[in-house]
Amino acid sequence: MELGGRMLWALLSGPGRRGGTRGWAFSSWQPHLPLAGLLNAKELVSHWTAVFEKRGIPEAQASSEYIVAHVLGAKTFQSLRPELWTQPLTPWQLQCIQELSSRRLQRMPVQYILGEWDFQGLSLKMAPPVFIPRPETESRVIAVDKGEAAICLTEENAQRLRLLDRIRIVPLDVTLEGSWAHLLPWGPVDLVVSNPPYVFHQDMEQLAPEIRSYEDPLALDGGEEGMDIIIHILALARWLLKDSGSIFLEVDPRHPELVGNWLQSQPDLSLDLVAMRRDFCGRPRFLHIQKSGPQRGCPADVWPGPQPARVPG
Ligand SMILES: C[S@@+](CC[C@H](N)C(=O)[O-])C[C@H]1O[C@@H](n2cnc3c(N)ncnc32)[C@H](O)[C@@H]1O
Repeated sequence: MELGGRMLWALLSGPGRRGGTRGWAFSSWQPHLPLAGLLNAKELVSHWTAVFEKRGIPEAQASSEYIVAHVLGAKTFQSLRPELWTQPLTPWQLQCIQELSSRRLQRMPVQYILGEWDFQGLSLKMAPPVFIPRPETESRVIAVDKGEAAICLTEENAQRLRLLDRIRIVPLDVTLEGSWAHLLPWGPVDLVVSNPPYVFHQDMEQLAPEIRSYEDPLALDGGEEGMDIIIHILALARWLLKDSGSIFLEVDPRHPELVGNWLQSQPDLSLDLVAMRRDFCGRPRFLHIQKSGPQRGCPADVWPGPQPARVPG
């Protein structure tokens, strides 16, 4: 299950965009703390995080991670090969990190310091005073699965695609009582998108050997009417979705009717089946369900409100 939602906008741009990097020269930096003994990437991140925090620089850790990763040739610290975290840095790398960090102390946005920034899947050049594209239209994704293998592979793929700073991967069994509470810190969300296990139990035997023998039955078997996990996702959505938020579900062709009837029997969920779409073979396989009125029944003191962006790890 994936929850797409509130965009991540780390406060990396800071309030005071000043001048430009043009004209900045290495001679312009003032050393802020001696670097003696701080020789590897991890230590430098800790060092500059502490300096930034002390000087009230927003997103202290993310800023120092981006700077150190950039100098080591990566986009994010998480995507650096782990051996580079502890490998001694060259004097040139130390000097670059010192210079770039000094700019951050002047409240220069990280996007300008690095000179490039990923936006909507594109790596864009950034230079002051040209406006930094704000990712108001970007999504932050919360990926939920109970399967350990699925969680590990998702983490690996997110790393390969350099999406670790935009995805939160949560190992969670959505059928567990109160599981919604684990997701609250990242809500409320605009969308819930899920390809749940929805195969009718009696159909499992008829699946092709390629599926039966190799894919996890827990990823496929939806119980007697294929609804076992679907109803838990719908119940969770009640707590997680914003008003008028949507759920998109891949289902069996028998499910539009079953899900529609079930929703009608659960008026407290405030969810309506608003559309059905067909697959390439013309079978009804995709459901659009929408939350209607204001959220009912969620205790006001349970909702923690918007949380700061977090990078998994
Ligand atoms: C059909 S697969 C879809 C995988 C992936 N989301 C996709 O769209 O390709 C269903 C997934 O649901 C997960 N799953 C099954 N039961 C679950 C539960 N109770 N809570 C959370 N995830 C569950 C399985 O581990 C499996 O990865």
